[in-house]
Amino acid sequence: DLLKEIERLEQLFTIDTAKLKQITDHFVNELEKGLSVEGGSIPMNPTWVMSFPTGYEMGTYLALDMGGTNLRVCQITLTDQKSEFDIIQSKYRMPEELKTGEADELWEYIADCLMQFIETHHGDTAKLGTLPLGFTFSYPATQNYIDEGVLQRWTKGFDIAGVEGHNVVPMFEEALTRRGVPIKLTALINDTTGTLIASAYTDTKMKIGCIFGTGCNAAYMENCGSIPKLAHLNLPPDTPMAINCEWGAFDNEHKVLPRTPYDEVIDRDSPRPGQQAFEKMIAGLYLGEIFRLVMVDLHDKQGTHIFDGQDISALRKAYSLDSSFLSAIEDDPFENLSETAELFQNRLGIHPSSSELELIRRTAELIGTRAARLSACGVSAISKKKGFTSCHVGADGSVFNKYPHFKSRGAKALREILDWPEKTNPKEEDPIEILAAEDGSGVGAALIAALTLERVKAGN
Ligand code: BG6
Ligand code: GLC
Repeated sequence: DLLKEIERLEQLFTIDTAKLKQITDHFVNELEKGLSVEGGSIPMNPTWVMSFPTGYEMGTYLALDMGGTNLRVCQITLTDQKSEFDIIQSKYRMPEELKTGEADELWEYIADCLMQFIETHHGDTAKLGTLPLGFTFSYPATQNYIDEGVLQRWTKGFDIAGVEGHNVVPMFEEALTRRGVPIKLTALINDTTGTLIASAYTDTKMKIGCIFGTGCNAAYMENCGSIPKLAHLNLPPDTPMAINCEWGAFDNEHKVLPRTPYDEVIDRDSPRPGQQAFEKMIAGLYLGEIFRLVMVDLHDKQGTHIFDGQDISALRKAYSLDSSFLSAIEDDPFENLSETAELFQNRLGIHPSSSELELIRRTAELIGTRAARLSACGVSAISKKKGFTSCHVGADGSVFNKYPHFKSRGAKALREILDWPEKTNPKEEDPIEILAAEDGSGVGAALIAALTLERVKAGN
């Protein structure tokens, strides 16, 4: 019966404090391994972002932000007022077909968006052509220089042939030349690095930048002396280097994460099986799909009788439910879950009974809670590795900003992992607080372009 199923799902999806701690300890080791010469699953990519901003950076920059869902073009002016900036921006949809299409089509689309931005906001393309561009390309990339990025592998469901293993900068620049867009790239950055730098610009307590969105990842500042794989470059050991962890790849060997049969299906049916084990349990791209797989399984299982006799063909469509569907279920304010019932009727043509509604709500809670608690393992692991006992963590992304209770569930898990005593005053800050980063990638890309040009001028 349904109660039994709820219990089974609770067992599958609940991660207790001891397990969170075990995952975190393994995570710390894996972060170290990623920095070693041999390397590990977590790429720990050096980004060549080698300082925090002072708040006194100035100038006008372009930023292009290619995340998982949107493409954004921004023009950012860092003003002479400390940590203040002006921004104009346009958002373009990232068409679904592009994500699994041809490389040329992707670059042409991006070039078109840039051109449109210029035409909308500038008559004078010549002037714009002299503006430095920060390109936020949020996929794992090997960088020997800040204006290079060899794509290690596509993540977040992208699958475009001919890009993995190649430097994306010339591909991007060729498309700009073909379209006659007069722009030169100054820096290629990851959204987490952008978030880290933009957060630190307005709050010097910010030590980690995180994205909890379509994908899930973090960046922090390491010392070159603690990066054995860069030892051959003889950089001064205390020189800072931002590391894009690409922690979505944590535990690709499946040693500690309590994966369910549903997680195994997600991985098996994804374009890159075996990759991004951690991300596939947390990120917005997958939350709705995990939920859908649970529902279909319960329907098909003998003896459960969920949605018995109903046509569930709409529910059978892979990736038809995104994380906003789950958010809506968790947000349903009514005790009889009437909004959830409506959602199922309108979107899926299914009429759930009241006990089925209970099961639906509980399943959404379990999936959302597991994602938030696992995220806290990553934040705790970086904090432990770096010895941060008190800091701020800047976070961005649709899951962090929009998924109900994600922040409070994550904060509670952090408290459990790091053994903080209960707060006496609820308004009091936790020693490590995960806070919303303001427009991470746009401003971050501008700041990194500014820092890069300063470095070039200084001759380093
Ligand atoms: C945006 C950032 O706010 O969040 C992007 O500007 C980032 O750089 C994105 O990739 C992540 O969120 P989502 O939900 O769009 O993947
Ligand atoms: C994926 C990408 C990573 C990015 C994250 C958040 O994990 O591989 O580069 O930072 O998604 O967008």
